[in-house]
Amino acid sequence: MLVLGIETTCDETAAAVVERREDGRGRILSNVILSQVNEHAVFGGVVPEIAARAHVEILDHVIAKAMVDADLSFADLDGVAAAAGPGLIGGVIVGLTTAKAIAVVAEKPLLAVNHLEAHALTARLTDNLPFPYCLFLASGGHTQIVAVLGVGDYARLGTTVDDAIGEAYDKTAKLLGLPYPGGPAVEEQAGRGEAMRFALPRPMLGRAEPDFSLSGLKTALRLEAEKIAPLAEQDVADLCAGFQAAVVDVVADRVGAGLRVFQQRFGQPAALVVAGGVAANQAIRGALTRLAVEADTRLAAPPVELCTDNGAIIAWAGAERLALGLIDDLETSPRARWPLEELKRATAPNSA
Ligand code: KG4
Ligand code: ZN
Repeated sequence: MLVLGIETTCDETAAAVVERREDGRGRILSNVILSQVNEHAVFGGVVPEIAARAHVEILDHVIAKAMVDADLSFADLDGVAAAAGPGLIGGVIVGLTTAKAIAVVAEKPLLAVNHLEAHALTARLTDNLPFPYCLFLASGGHTQIVAVLGVGDYARLGTTVDDAIGEAYDKTAKLLGLPYPGGPAVEEQAGRGEAMRFALPRPMLGRAEPDFSLSGLKTALRLEAEKIAPLAEQDVADLCAGFQAAVVDVVADRVGAGLRVFQQRFGQPAALVVAGGVAANQAIRGALTRLAVEADTRLAAPPVELCTDNGAIIAWAGAERLALGLIDDLETSPRARWPLEELKRATAPNSA
């Protein structure tokens, strides 16, 4: 089964071809990603209008390259998948409309993939992981702990009540004059800093519900920075170290709570899976590895390039759905908001 996947929900224009074999194993035949990071960097964050325009300009070329790299033509495909949301609506419209056009012309089934489901199923492409497992998704737009029970079957156990973790890194970077995206810059600075210098809060610590709150930490950091301004190089490193230490503590405590809720409701997970750009962070990965061992499971961390947004994860989720006969109507609308739980109804056996 060969599926083309298109991703345009944020600031990556991406397309890939993935093969799913009968035994459920996957193989990436091509994976083309064009990041718009430089176009948004001057603004310190993603600008939706700029993103949508850039997707329009470049998507056709990205798809053509993905097909050439895979050495296939549209006629060879078994399905065409696109992320139909959630995300910045301008970009989602570009990707989904393009997928529909290819599907119509090549007479192939359309797969309107939920972007979060794509992150959730990536570990089955990379690790051939069985259900159920516990997903920790942490990116610039999302912070969620999800029980992955089957294709289309998800239970959200916890989420953030304010900022996403990646967003908190990006805002911290902006505040301290570090480049965008903030995650890698803050992590690098933290490595040279003294975390104990500032007493920063650990919001939500100890609560049974595995939710997150990060805006209080951000505010506390700003107040500490203002107290000692103007900031010397070492001040910036120390603030980053303090921020990251707080985030690591929060992640360990909150994901730990998530694993306990998972075990109570669904039994033992096959793994703790991490996805999203924040999964690149070594300190956070270390904390999650320890947590998985404590919970008597293991950490499954797909390679960083598959944790962040790309076409291969969309193609793979499309292939998983196609294998179950879950194809979508050409009338399917793009969606800015699309919680994972809403997939369950659509995946009920009678609609298959
Ligand atoms: O998944 P992703 O590429 O895009 C979406 O947000 O969908 O994630 C990007 C986010 C950014 O907020 C970035 O700052 C964060 O992931 N990030 C990191 C690191 N690398 C990227 N956060 C912490 N530590 C990192 N090393
Ligand atoms: Zn994503």
